[in-house]
Amino acid sequence: MAKLTVNDLDVKGKRVFMRVDYNVPMEEKEGQMVINDITRISATLPTLELLTKKGARIILTAHLGRPKGKREPSMSLKPVADKLSEMISRPVQFVDDCIGEKVEAAANALQNGEILLLENVRFYAEEEANDPAFAEKLAKVADIYVNDAFGAAHRAHASTEGVARLVAQRGGQCAAGLLMERELKYLGDELSNPARPFVVILGGAKVSDKIKVIDTLLDKADTILIGGAMAYTFKLAQGLKVGKSLVEPDMVDTAKAALEKAKQRNVQFLLPSDNVVATPVKTDRLNKKGKPVIELHDHRVNGEPNIPENEEGVDIGPDTAKKYSEVISSAKTVLWNGPMGIFEDPRFAEGTFAVANAVVQATEKNGAKTIIGGGDSVKAMNKAKLGDKVTFMSTGGGASLEFLEGAVLPGVAALSEK
Ligand code: 3PG
Repeated sequence: MAKLTVNDLDVKGKRVFMRVDYNVPMEEKEGQMVINDITRISATLPTLELLTKKGARIILTAHLGRPKGKREPSMSLKPVADKLSEMISRPVQFVDDCIGEKVEAAANALQNGEILLLENVRFYAEEEANDPAFAEKLAKVADIYVNDAFGAAHRAHASTEGVARLVAQRGGQCAAGLLMERELKYLGDELSNPARPFVVILGGAKVSDKIKVIDTLLDKADTILIGGAMAYTFKLAQGLKVGKSLVEPDMVDTAKAALEKAKQRNVQFLLPSDNVVATPVKTDRLNKKGKPVIELHDHRVNGEPNIPENEEGVDIGPDTAKKYSEVISSAKTVLWNGPMGIFEDPRFAEGTFAVANAVVQATEKNGAKTIIGGGDSVKAMNKAKLGDKVTFMSTGGGASLEFLEGAVLPGVAALSEK
């Protein structure tokens, strides 16, 4: 059944408690915390605009980082309130707490169309514990609950789940925001009955992170293209040598089962036919975790099935990039999750960028619906400056993966049906 959305609500003069995912990357510059990427803030603007126009009194709640129940100044949401205010050219009030008298006073003083952002909910351990008493305190300022935090919808926390239940118990409405609605449409509805051919591109480091997604998508896709370090565990499963590549030997049987399922279901399941390899060299320098920094030297294209003992795979090779690009360009639906190599290093970014370009080609020349399933593939699209040339880019990381696996997300389940 479809969920209620903000379009269905009459919010005039009501206090709308809206959960957003403002867990944005930040870094300290000259003693100030500076936001490095505003994508998640921009993504909530359509909902904010609509609610403002409808005369809601908006109370925004979010988390930032993992402060583990402690007040951590570097994880304050104050810089986000300032940034949001700058982006919408209107004041955004901020209270340095998320429960208590100060919050209630500020919420009750809001006029129609005004916006208030509360401090990081994770400054209280009760948030992640989904503590009912804490949820009650949060819900004190909620006449209506709106969830636009798709990226946090896989968490059954007080602000993503507990408050919604309480508002519903009181007979109040709990609705999806416009961003949440779009995420559910593109990662859910559009992929449940995709235009064909439906091509899925999966990359990233680990088979263990993606195996449930692979299994679910083997039931739907026409073709699955594998890249990233994950490909080397599949190569191991085929009895090939992978040198010093990142692999998960305990996932070899799982990889074999996926290859077998692909065969049975007649899904074209492609692994890289060539790759870029480099020689890892330990240095005397230590990283933040106290481990020696490894440098990657002497990179080259390896067209052989095996990778020599002293080298590791760091990207798909040019033949693979060409073949994958051809397959992607002729698709009618594309889902991409996970990079093809260590794209943060320009020497090993070509494969990932070739895929990014092919996804854009499919969109522009073939009219394909192209969906970027969150996390590093979104970063890669943005790095290639192609983010606005695909149909949809998810704002979720873990949430997108769990949703693509077919899981019911607690933050979505708690919303009212239409
Ligand atoms: C994310 O960045 O994926 C979400 O904001 C969820 O954050 P979390 O993994 O700390 O719960």
